[in-house]
Amino acid sequence: MELKSLNNKLKILTPLIATSFALVSCSQEKAPDANIDQAEQHVEVSKTVPAFWPVVANPIQADRSTEKRVQEILQSMTIEQKIAQMIQPEIRSITPEDMRKYGFGSYLNGGGSFPNQKKQSSISDWIDFAEQMYLASIDASMDGSTIPTMWGTDAVHGHNNVIGATLFPHNIGLGAANNPRLIEQIAQATATEVMVTGIDWIFAPTVAVVRDDRWGRTYEGYSEDPEIVKAYSAAIVRGLQGQGNQFLGDDKVIATVKHFLGDGGTEKGDDQGNNIASEEALYKVHAQGYIGGLTSGAQTVMASFNSWHGKKNHGSYYLLTQVLKDRMGFDGFIVGDWNGHGQVKGCSNESCSQSINAGLDMFMAPTDSWKPLYYNTLAQAKSGEIPMSRIDDAVSRILRVKVRAGLFDKPSPAKRLLSGKTELIGHPDHRAIARQAVRESLVLLKNKNNLLPLPQNKNILIAGDAADNIGKQSGGWTITWQGTGNTNNDFPGATSILDGIKNKLADSDANIEFSPQGNYQTKPDVAIVVFGEEPYAEGNGDLDNLEYQRGNKRDLALLKKLKRDNIPVIAIFISGRPMWVNPELNASDAFVAAWLPGTEGQGIADVIFRKRNGEVDFDFTGKLSFSWPNSPIQTTVNRYDTQYNPLLPYGFGLSYSDTNIIADNLDEEIETLNSDLIALNLFNAPWRPAIVNESDVELITSNNFSGTSIKYQTIDRDTQEDARRIEFTGDARVMFEIQDNFVFDLRGYADANAALSFDIRRNHAEELPLYLSMRCEQECNPAIDLSNLLKTAERKAWQTVQIALACFSNKGATMDKIIAPFVLSTNKPQIVEIAKLEITTTKSKNVIECR
Ligand code: BGC
Ligand code: BGC
Repeated sequence: MELKSLNNKLKILTPLIATSFALVSCSQEKAPDANIDQAEQHVEVSKTVPAFWPVVANPIQADRSTEKRVQEILQSMTIEQKIAQMIQPEIRSITPEDMRKYGFGSYLNGGGSFPNQKKQSSISDWIDFAEQMYLASIDASMDGSTIPTMWGTDAVHGHNNVIGATLFPHNIGLGAANNPRLIEQIAQATATEVMVTGIDWIFAPTVAVVRDDRWGRTYEGYSEDPEIVKAYSAAIVRGLQGQGNQFLGDDKVIATVKHFLGDGGTEKGDDQGNNIASEEALYKVHAQGYIGGLTSGAQTVMASFNSWHGKKNHGSYYLLTQVLKDRMGFDGFIVGDWNGHGQVKGCSNESCSQSINAGLDMFMAPTDSWKPLYYNTLAQAKSGEIPMSRIDDAVSRILRVKVRAGLFDKPSPAKRLLSGKTELIGHPDHRAIARQAVRESLVLLKNKNNLLPLPQNKNILIAGDAADNIGKQSGGWTITWQGTGNTNNDFPGATSILDGIKNKLADSDANIEFSPQGNYQTKPDVAIVVFGEEPYAEGNGDLDNLEYQRGNKRDLALLKKLKRDNIPVIAIFISGRPMWVNPELNASDAFVAAWLPGTEGQGIADVIFRKRNGEVDFDFTGKLSFSWPNSPIQTTVNRYDTQYNPLLPYGFGLSYSDTNIIADNLDEEIETLNSDLIALNLFNAPWRPAIVNESDVELITSNNFSGTSIKYQTIDRDTQEDARRIEFTGDARVMFEIQDNFVFDLRGYADANAALSFDIRRNHAEELPLYLSMRCEQECNPAIDLSNLLKTAERKAWQTVQIALACFSNKGATMDKIIAPFVLSTNKPQIVEIAKLEITTTKSKNVIECR
């Protein structure tokens, strides 16, 4: 059966393989049964690019002298040096000695990664590190390349890994400001602060057009609509790289338009998930930021983790080469995302000729796998598995960008124009731009009885746990990757929202009381409550619906308490996305969507207070660039939808001259959240098998894996590869699990009384312990001994087991933060086979309930 279908597949593929290999001029003869995955990848070559994909006018014309220089350098390079240009390791896994030995084309620091891994690294620590790496890269004493390396960083809302930097509102707030001129200034200021630390290259802008607000990266997007995204992308790239004779001048950095392509359009907003948009929608919606960015001469593009119709972009010859390079005319280079190549079918973090053949020019190889990746890529280049023409093209692109950026002519990082000008980090001019951006990003959703703007002569209570919390107001990608674990002391020069209000009212007749819990001595005339989402980044922020503080309405209770005391309430809502807050809207008189404003909390007081003389100071100008949902499950509500019924539409935003339109009695009823709960198949992505040995997690990336304590194999029960065989040697410390890359919120399923369901078969007749458990973000150990549940008579036969999620939560599993929903362990050697592993609301009558 297996063989037959394989043969059929091959028959269809053979003619295509022949033409496509000819097109990529692969020098090696392949046996017909060679790697199917690779064959599938090349099949795409025959697809023609529809006419709607445009040729993008590139303002940076390829000039002869640059090209001549690139070719001269290329000619002088060994194959080893070329491969090294194509590898970008991370500062946690290389030393300057590695740089000297290999001569990497680039390196990065990931979110929350600092020189010497010191969060408090000073500006000179950053420059010293850049200097060491650079000098190592041009040192010809070993066999490295002598080509200047370049450092890339995620300065995604200011230079956000650096203590003291100006942090701008996250992109979602900038989208509401809809001011391209301001955005260009933000980009310039960011470029300046980055140059001060000796860094050459920024992984921004993110031009995702976000279609489902459950996505954990919603705040990294400017809008759900391509209009703003396109204009902004052009403006940011201009601001970062400069233009005309300023292009990549001494105070400019290289920009990256990311993540190509369709990251904001994955099904259910699943981070790194699958986008099933039609090709036309892919162009009209998701590609517009690239049109904008390339029109301004963006020099690099980052490939996206997501798939398009089930195929990972990191392996898509069609999207990377045919569309982006060949049609749109992109002549810079494509960098991968964090081990993104490892997710391509048939690849691992350590080996992926598929990606390079598809058009990726530089691997982002942030873990120790950079080394095997380097040697494997080298071997693939030598064997012809990657054609030399492809290697030369990739390296030429990298060199072209380096020549354009002046890297061969500039002095070392420590000696560059802005290096070490510490006073430019968090410079007042930059903070003023950020503060203006905060003002312009605020969207006024409700303003009953024109409560705002407030006069400066009242008794004011300031409450809520975000009022004096700069980390929370800045969100993810703030010093640390997730934006958690920071205190106000980590933000020298920054202003919390509370501080902003205090500054504004310093010489007024107002009285301020501050109590996060909302307690007061003197009855206030008005309360300002600042609350919202905790910081998160990437998939850790994925939600299954948009209800704010689901199951724990702490902030609502606070708003209601103040209401009961007859105090008018102003809500300042901090969030990375629109959320369903009907109860909170009802409990507030005025409601401001403040997004994630960053370090200049002063911008909020600027707008919500009048001047001392009673005049309006700054009015609200922000307008929603994301539609606001009218229910927790209205997660994909977007401008121009045919059935469009948001609570508040795209473009909505009150100003002081408008009359409030939101009533006090919005529907608070939550319809069945379970209506779209389809069974979660735990054998499918994002779920993946792993072996856990105390804190060591080893992903199983092969269908036939042999570890010291556990062996794993995919087997056929009813259909091809529909079951898993796990062989335990009996080491109870080593567990087998099915896990997600990110913490998973199973509350929707738990509330719907779903069960973990699977078929199981064991190979022995005697009673042997077998523990089933879940792994949570925080310690939790809800182990259940399965041997008690399995029917004795049928020990060696397949049987179905269904255990309600409540059984795990009763034993302490935190359903909102599950890493692995299926963990097996035992202290007795045995073989266990599992099929149909899912979380489902469809249950048999034998389900084990633990209500
Ligand atoms: C890094 C981030 C990166 C993430 C990806 C983190 O450890 O610091 O920059 O995006 O891993 O998984
Ligand atoms: C993110 C990218 C980021 C990279 C480096 C990845 O996980 O998706 O946006 O640039 O890490 O930190």
